[in-house]
Amino acid sequence: MTQPTSEPPSSQTIERLTREAVDELSKLGTYEELETWRVAYLGRRGRLTLLLRGLSGLDIDERRLVGSLANEAKGTLEQNLERRSAEIDGAELATSASQDKLDVTLPGRTTPVGRLHPTTQIVREICGVFSDLGFSVVEGPEVEWDHYNFEMLNIPRGHPARDMWNTLWVDYQNEAGEQPMLLRTHTSPMQARVMESSRPPIRVVVPGKCYRYEATDATHEWHFYQVEGLAVDEGITFADLKGTLYEFARRLFGEDRKVRFRCDYFPFVEPGVDMSIDCFACEGEGDGCRICRDSGWIEIMGAGMVHPKVLAGVGYDPEKYTGFAFGLGPERIAMLKYGIEDIRLFYANDLRFLRQF
Ligand code: PHE
Repeated sequence: MTQPTSEPPSSQTIERLTREAVDELSKLGTYEELETWRVAYLGRRGRLTLLLRGLSGLDIDERRLVGSLANEAKGTLEQNLERRSAEIDGAELATSASQDKLDVTLPGRTTPVGRLHPTTQIVREICGVFSDLGFSVVEGPEVEWDHYNFEMLNIPRGHPARDMWNTLWVDYQNEAGEQPMLLRTHTSPMQARVMESSRPPIRVVVPGKCYRYEATDATHEWHFYQVEGLAVDEGITFADLKGTLYEFARRLFGEDRKVRFRCDYFPFVEPGVDMSIDCFACEGEGDGCRICRDSGWIEIMGAGMVHPKVLAGVGYDPEKYTGFAFGLGPERIAMLKYGIEDIRLFYANDLRFLRQF
């Protein structure tokens, strides 16, 4: 860059200085160079600034002429500086877009938003119905003692009814060499736990995970959920069981649902039943119905009056207290409600399936 001139200002010096400055500017490529250039020409001791100061030495007519030219030159330099700076902006952007890993023109990545698993949704819906009916929701351990899973439910060691629950045992032995710990095969052990830890009146539902040593197919999983229900008080009858479960079926499957109770066997209830609803898919018409297989009925849960032995086992007087219990499988309920054909889909972690709920 040329040194400040001591020449007296004239239209020629202004013109020359402008040409030089603009010429120099066009060769600059960075913001730092632009700043140096600005200081050299337009700064407090810059060439154009000094030149303007030199105007005082001119006579009045010349000062007016040269002064206006100098001001014009100042404007020209400032405009050129601005333009050059914009050009550098554009060039930097182009370089970064073509060379850098960061492509600033790419649209941002959206954060995927999660949702509740279909089982969680249906469990909440089921528990919601029962809590409207006055039940509270409690949970219990998934690793359970033989004592609660079987013994307290009137299923002693060696009882053939144990075969109804293919059990996954936990590798733990007591002093007697017994293996008293397991993954709970149903939520029924919570019946005994709740009765032990509280006093009637009892009204609870227990959602939770269960495990069975089982080969899987479209209707069997080795882990699944259950929702257990228990009501114990003075004077509870089978009519209370029917009324409660009928209301549940109507709230979950629609006002017009009919229910059917048939005898069934569970060692911890007497009498024991399985409950079905009339088929909401074909309305009992049959003709190739995949939901009820033309029977017109769909089994949705096991239930019954709490066995006197179970009541006595937790120290309740069976002459004074009675109660009913039920157990249902939420995945099965969801399969019926949403037409899901394979229970294994629930836990296969396929987002194409899960996103539909
Ligand atoms: N626990 C039983 C099962 O897993 C279901 C059930 C619960 C039956 C309560 C009656 C009463 O098959």
